This record gives sequence, structure tokens and C-alpha cells, in this order.
Amino acid sequence: MSVRTSEYLVFDQVTKRFGDLPVVDPPVTLVIPRGQFVVFLGPSGCGKTTLMRMSGGLDQPSSGVIRLEGEAVGAPDQRRGMVFQSYSSFPWLTVGQNVAFGMRYRPDLTTEEKKRRTQHYLDLVGLAEFANAFPNRISGGMRQRVAIARTLAAGSEVLLMDEPFGALDAQRREQLQVELRRIQSEEAKTVIFVTHDVEEAVFLADRIIVFSRRPARILDDIDVNAGLGAERTLALRDSEPFFRMKTDILHKVRATLGTEHT
Ligand SMILES: Nc1ncnc2c1ncn2[C@@H]1O[C@H](COP(=O)(O)OP(=O)(O)OP(=O)(O)O)[C@@H](O)[C@H]1O
Ligand SMILES: [Mg+2]
Repeated sequence: MSVRTSEYLVFDQVTKRFGDLPVVDPPVTLVIPRGQFVVFLGPSGCGKTTLMRMSGGLDQPSSGVIRLEGEAVGAPDQRRGMVFQSYSSFPWLTVGQNVAFGMRYRPDLTTEEKKRRTQHYLDLVGLAEFANAFPNRISGGMRQRVAIARTLAAGSEVLLMDEPFGALDAQRREQLQVELRRIQSEEAKTVIFVTHDVEEAVFLADRIIVFSRRPARILDDIDVNAGLGAERTLALRDSEPFFRMKTDILHKVRATLGTEHT
């Protein structure tokens, strides 16, 4: 692996404070190779969204730098697609138009191709029959699916996903986890995915970074593929190695959080 490939997305000594409140400290250093699926796992309020916002260029570190292919991340950029915890779609566009909007900076795609992709991702998230509905007529979970479809349709190289499946029912959530993992491996996307759900983390990740309670620091860096291999199927979920890894991580997380609830 070349240096360039193995140092695709780099957090270099990153800290963040809001006024007097340290949110990321001591400095976080993390090197993410191209094509890796990284899950940030950490308790509520520890600073996960803050880290994502900085990766996306929506916020700047207080010190240190985040680099994508050697270049400091500045303003939001089409190469990085973001899905956040709560999403507001454009109310004046239909569901289909909201999904297509993600491809507005893709002159390489023909109108036909954009239509095809819109349809494909609407199908994928189960919203095909709502293509012509306006966002105020669908549920919050459905709006979240619009956001997911829009980001996937845009075809960004890096997907920054902040608890994107939190509002979905269990079955849709599992389905999208399988699908996201498939898209990521087929299209060699680099993904940072935030969750506080250990099972979701183990199922999706090549690698899990476990963060402490605020201020966020790295507690553990787990190579999931070493234990489970790279292929993820629904059957894997019921397997013993999967269960063991999930339990190990749960115990670690509990131990570091002590008895307090988060
Ligand atoms: N713009 C801001 N100004 C001041 N404080 C902020 C700001 N953004 C976040 N914080 C604080 O930083 C801390 C970390 O917030 P953040 O949203 O990153 O946590 P999180 O890990 O994403 O939590 P959750 O799991 O609940 O989504 C919180 O205490 C939050 O109140
Ligand atoms: Mg958050």
C-alpha cells in the first residue's frame, strides 16, 4: 500500500473546545486508509458529531488539522457526502427531486443516468412510491431515508454518516446496514460512521474507534476484519464470533464508563 493510499484521511493532533468546554482533548491522531469503513463508537455527548462536522469542513479544529489526501479540509466539498442525525430536506422539492439534488455537481452524469440513479436509490431505501411526495407529507424516518438516498446517489468518495439509521425501524435498519456495507466494498468508499450501537458498529466496521466520555479521547482501535473477516451477511449476525466480539466491546465500553448511565 502506498503512503498516499494508507494516509487518505488523517486527523493530525486534533483538539476542539467550545469556549471553556474541552470536547476533543487530548489531541486525536488517526490515520484512515482509502476504502476503510471506520465506525466512531462513543457515549452520548462525547464529541462524535463535533468530530464529524470537522471532518466535513463544517467546523474547524481548535488545534491540529484534518487532511484529505494531504490537503487540509476546508469548506464542505462534493467529495465528502454527509448524512447527519437530523436532516432537513428541501420542502419545495419532491422526494425524488431531493435525491436528484445530490447529483447537481455531477456534470459527468447524463440526465438519463441521474434518473436511473435516483430511481435505484429510492428503491433501495424503500421510497419509490413516494418519489412525487413532498417532504412535509412523509415521516421523520422517511425523511432520513431521503437523506441517505441523496448522499449515496451523489457518489461521494467519502461518506460521513452521523447516526444515520437511528430513526429507522429495526428491519429497515438491518437492510440498510447490509446495503451500505455492500456499496462501500463494491465502490471502495471511505466511510466514517457514527453510532452508539455496538451491534451496528461490529456489523458495519472494518475498524472501530472507541471514544471516551467527553472530552473525547481514543480508548481503543479495534480491527474487526481480523476477527470476523470482511464479508458481512445477515447470517454473520447470529454467529458465535460476531456475538463474542459484540460482547467483548460492550464489556470494554461499560468498564470505561463505570457505573454511570449515559
Ligand atoms: N456549537 C457548540 N457550542 C457549544 N457547545 C457545543 C457545540 N457543539 C457541541 N457542543 C457540546 O460539545 C459536546 C459534544 O457534542 P457532540 O454533539 O459532538 O456529541 P455527540 O457525541 O455527537 O453526542 P450524541 O451522541 O448525543 O449525538 C456536548 O457537550 C455539546 O453540548
Ligand atoms: Mg451526535
